[in-house]
Amino acid sequence: MGHVTDSASDAAARHRALAAVIQQHRFAYYILDSPTVPDADFDRLLRELEQLERDCPELVSPDSPTQQVGPPPGAAFTAVAHPSPLLSLDNAFTTEELLAWRQRVANLAGEEAVERSGYDCEAKIDGLAVDLVYEDGLLVRAATRGDGRTGEDITANIWTVDAIPRRLAGPAPGLVEIRGEAFIPLDGFAALNAELVAAGKKPFANPRNAAAGSLRLKDPKATAARPISFLSHGVGLGDVPGASLSEVYGQLAAWGLPISPLTRPAAVFEEVLFFVEELGRRRHSLGHEIDGAVVKLDDRRLQTELGATVRAPRWAIAYKFPPVEVTTKLLDIRVNVGRTGRV
Ligand code: IVH
Repeated sequence: MGHVTDSASDAAARHRALAAVIQQHRFAYYILDSPTVPDADFDRLLRELEQLERDCPELVSPDSPTQQVGPPPGAAFTAVAHPSPLLSLDNAFTTEELLAWRQRVANLAGEEAVERSGYDCEAKIDGLAVDLVYEDGLLVRAATRGDGRTGEDITANIWTVDAIPRRLAGPAPGLVEIRGEAFIPLDGFAALNAELVAAGKKPFANPRNAAAGSLRLKDPKATAARPISFLSHGVGLGDVPGASLSEVYGQLAAWGLPISPLTRPAAVFEEVLFFVEELGRRRHSLGHEIDGAVVKLDDRRLQTELGATVRAPRWAIAYKFPPVEVTTKLLDIRVNVGRTGRV
């Protein structure tokens, strides 16, 4: 009997420790824009926590990292509630997990419905999610994702991003919420870091942190000088015409919103697998960083029918590429002292 109590309290202790470590990494990543571990290590910790919660469901609480989409808003910018929540994506790390997702949606909605729908294959852009609210075609507010329900108001900074139209082209609905990814392309990242180093400042660890840091500068003029780009990947509240996601993207493009040229429709799952493999091969020769592929069901009625969990839609899945970033153990540093005593 003592055994049962021991393993239960062991699980609770492991849960507390894991949750705390994950929260610290999230703080470094989201608030300090300076990650402390490679993404793959972070994913592994989160997966361990998820497994622990599957084994011991009583450990799940609203403040567990598994229930959170991002960090709470920081102090510098006003908090704003999103018109509709910004969700995250569930991850697949292997082809088997991708096929399992296909099977799950087929079990829920029926094989024929999935076959009729087809898929959208996209690049998973490694930037930060931005929510844009257009009223009567005018960009009235932009916010970071934050915890998914409330984000930071970064409207003034977003107005300086050339890729994001301040006014939609052509007739637009009274309200439309556009989601997408803000990021800094690789060439711009190299130039920015070179500038920072030349000015004696600390360079950014990666383009994602550079984009996040640039959008949270207090002076929009400083943001304007940063090479920030944007690609749309979804819609929230508001009527965007189209029975399929492909049609929605067509409408966004007609409004002047940028869509990733890496977006492809796929009629059958073999094409999805082909896309994922091909994108994996090309990932290091693109103009910006990606951390995977995103596969979405194309039929919007089917999307609504499948709905979402608190965290992520059931109709989409992210396939994460194996990591490139690795942690190296530094074994030794040898210092040479020259004749003149110079180190
Ligand atoms: S769809 C409700 N599509 O990845 C569906 N997200 O790990 C959620 N992301 O929060 C968004 N590229 O910021 C979608 N082609 C893409 C994406 C994408 C990057 C980001 C997005 C999301 C995160 C989830």
